[in-house]
Amino acid sequence: MLIIFGASGDLTARKLIPGLFNLYVAQQLPENFVVLGASRSDMTDEEFRDKVVNKSPYLKEKLEDLKDNYVKGFTDRIFYEDLGSDYTAEYSGLAKRIETLNVDSGTESNYMFYFSTPPSLYEPIAKNLADAGLNSQEKGWKRLIVEKPFGYSLESAKILNNGLQQYFKEPQIYRIDHYLGKETVQNLLVTRFSNSIFEPLWNRNYIHHVEITNAESVGVEKRGGYYDKSGALRDMFQNHLMQIVSLVVMEPPIGDQPEEIRNEKVKALKSLRIMQDEKTLFDHTIRAQYVASEINGEKVKGYREEDGVDPNSITETYAAVKFFVDNWRWHGVPFYVRTAKRMPTKVTEVIIHFKTPHHQIFKDSGVSSKDNKLIIRIQPDEGVLIKFGVKVPGQGFKVERANLDFYYSSLAQTYVMEAYERLLLDAMQGDATLYARADEVEAAWEFVDPILDYWKNGKDVRMYGYAAGVWGPENSDELIDDLGYWRNPGE
Ligand code: BG6
Repeated sequence: MLIIFGASGDLTARKLIPGLFNLYVAQQLPENFVVLGASRSDMTDEEFRDKVVNKSPYLKEKLEDLKDNYVKGFTDRIFYEDLGSDYTAEYSGLAKRIETLNVDSGTESNYMFYFSTPPSLYEPIAKNLADAGLNSQEKGWKRLIVEKPFGYSLESAKILNNGLQQYFKEPQIYRIDHYLGKETVQNLLVTRFSNSIFEPLWNRNYIHHVEITNAESVGVEKRGGYYDKSGALRDMFQNHLMQIVSLVVMEPPIGDQPEEIRNEKVKALKSLRIMQDEKTLFDHTIRAQYVASEINGEKVKGYREEDGVDPNSITETYAAVKFFVDNWRWHGVPFYVRTAKRMPTKVTEVIIHFKTPHHQIFKDSGVSSKDNKLIIRIQPDEGVLIKFGVKVPGQGFKVERANLDFYYSSLAQTYVMEAYERLLLDAMQGDATLYARADEVEAAWEFVDPILDYWKNGKDVRMYGYAAGVWGPENSDELIDDLGYWRNPGE
């Protein structure tokens, strides 16, 4: 049974229920599966079913395509419990409802609690569950899934971890990072560790630098209030991008078991060089905000004009960081990672830039061997691209750049699960590989905290502006200036 706290919120209707519905249609859900939504809104089962299924804008198209029996079969498994005015009030009513559903549906006391609430409620909810005996694994398993943001800083992440761990054991806690549910993010592991052609080159001897770009064309949309207290570094960098970094940096795990992989990821995150002195922080970080602009003839608001945003806000919508990894493999290789809203397009990619060969015999050929790149396109156009030089037919040795390009869409017959589908299914099956462990989250905060602190309290901290719809502030190339420029996809 999946019990969702905060079930009247957007995430349930937008991601969780559609994800479950797809799994149901693909016959991936256990036969006795049921969902119990819980929140402070006063709703009946029927009203909740209408909200998240029958009248949900997120399922509209799908429902039109499907036969009614699927829809009814799915909707009949959805229930709702009103928690009253307060999540912190005791849960005897909820426990009774869970037990009734358990007996009626035969879910064998296997419960997955999904916390889709503000993090301040995680500990009180966990405590109430424990008080009602709902953390005990004597009969059936009990798991918690917690949403991001997991903490606001290292200290608050530790408080959250300790709070949850008082009532549930670490292996019962699943911290979600939806980037880990993306096929292409998981494919980083496969690219590296199931081929013999990349791994021998995956080190300081052959790699010149690593670039990771995460760009979104949207602004803060309706989330100005939340975003203004968060910013790009907390919203994207500390979690999603640090996860990608860990998969690029990590050493080969000894096997594919969750702890084997997670141990290596933690080790990778712990090897990132923490920036402490102001000079390094000044030279190696850039933050900026989008300002009003016109995109394709349409006026676009600047960040400070967005609803819910303080007109004097100094929250960044663009963050770029240069850093090094202090271990044998990566010594001296710079990493450049950036994330931003209101860029020209939505794209996430990892670019491995290879070094120039030691002795170049075709140096006047027109193409630099620095053009050797491996580009892992996380989204969209999911795939892998290798750029290399080929000889132009004819006299002499003129070299031209060529591409070896693989698109996931060419695997048309394979059903590619959405991130949330994959993650929910994994948690039901007790596979925590794609979830963040407590020490992993804390290691990522340890790296990010000094940057946040510098941006808040440092001297001479810059805040640039960039017109909505361009690749960040002009000065952003400064960060990467020993190399010249960022690779802007599509340019
Ligand atoms: C979320 C952030 O975690 O990820 C959002 O809070 C962001 O601000 C979103 O838009 C991006 O996710 P995706 O999967 O669209 O790249």
